[in-house]
Amino acid sequence: MSENNLQVLLKRRPQGAPVQEDFEMAERPVPLPGRGQVLVRNRFLSLDPYMRGRMSDAKSYAKPVDLGGVMEGATVGEVVASDDPGFAPGDSVMGGNGWQRYCVVDAGRLRRVDTSEASLSANLGVLGMPGLTAWVGLEDIGEPKAGETVVVSAASGAVGQVAGQIAKARGARVIGIAGGAAKCAFVKDELGFDACLDHRGDLNAQLDVTCPDGIDVYWENVGGHVQEAVFPRFRDFGRMVMCGMISQYNTAPGADATGAPPGPNLGPIVRKRLRVQGFIVSDSGWQRYAQFRAVMLGLMKSGELRWKEDVVIGLEKAPKAFIGLLKGENFGKLVIRID
Ligand SMILES: NC(=O)c1ccc[n+]([C@@H]2O[C@H](COP(=O)([O-])OP(=O)(O)OC[C@H]3O[C@@H](n4cnc5c(N)ncnc54)[C@H](OP(=O)(O)O)[C@@H]3O)[C@@H](O)[C@H]2O)c1
Repeated sequence: MSENNLQVLLKRRPQGAPVQEDFEMAERPVPLPGRGQVLVRNRFLSLDPYMRGRMSDAKSYAKPVDLGGVMEGATVGEVVASDDPGFAPGDSVMGGNGWQRYCVVDAGRLRRVDTSEASLSANLGVLGMPGLTAWVGLEDIGEPKAGETVVVSAASGAVGQVAGQIAKARGARVIGIAGGAAKCAFVKDELGFDACLDHRGDLNAQLDVTCPDGIDVYWENVGGHVQEAVFPRFRDFGRMVMCGMISQYNTAPGADATGAPPGPNLGPIVRKRLRVQGFIVSDSGWQRYAQFRAVMLGLMKSGELRWKEDVVIGLEKAPKAFIGLLKGENFGKLVIRID
């Protein structure tokens, strides 16, 4: 093949917030598939907050990316060549195929994608890992009920936009929190949340007005000053879905920086009999993917589910886009269109 394989490598482990120099571009020959393997041309790459953790070698639930290794990430693309009877050239597939244009992968690690149901890139967001995270967290932990008040942080993001809409479809009153007027307007007017609060303004005053009787379910995506404002407002028997705390990813132990943001007093967990549970979507999510996909496609068809993607064109722009994600610069599910 005349074309080379463009890749983004991890050059060094970031100190605090990642910078462009932590990444390196490489061009290598396109590999050939061996027996039982498939050559995939990646069309879209998903950029997600968890990738900050993979850049660090601190102990975690998943292995770090090796120095000099290709950055880890989910992609969708099409099969170019196959030495496996299950896949043929032209098939659309998704997999953990990394920040690169081409990859050779064992057939068992690919999932076939039906592009007649939704766009290819939707399989990285609303129908992919972030959407699955929203559904699993609400099924297993949040369990929103009609009439309850649900608060979702990073509400315009990949996970938050789906979590809020599922809670709304189950009859809850849903309040989003996002950064800035444009994101808040999108969450309220286009996603149909009941309200959306700007965490860059006086969040406590806004919560006083929108949640005067307290909060039943809090979907935690950010931590820091947002968690500090929401946490004291739980009603008895509230549920806190501990999905992530992005505001701390550049200052967490192992991120090699100091200055962790403030956190709340966790005493009310006992007094109010709250349920606080963390989860990792890969624990059980992918075994339930078919059930999730059927629910999502149903909500899409009925018009109850909308979503927004933030598409950046060019693999070489992936480091800058990822650095921006950790500062809230993305608006919607961040994906790279590789070509
Ligand atoms: N547990 C799991 O299995 C699992 C799976 C997937 C994702 N997650 C977690 O879910 C959370 C959301 O992920 P996502 O993919 O939906 O990301 P995302 O919302 O698409 O993008 C991140 C958003 O977080 C907000 N943000 C970034 N830095 C912030 C800061 N310092 N303080 C406050 N807000 C900040 C920004 O929104 P604003 O501009 O609106 O503030 C930004 O747009 C992350 O914590 C992620 O790690 C967990």
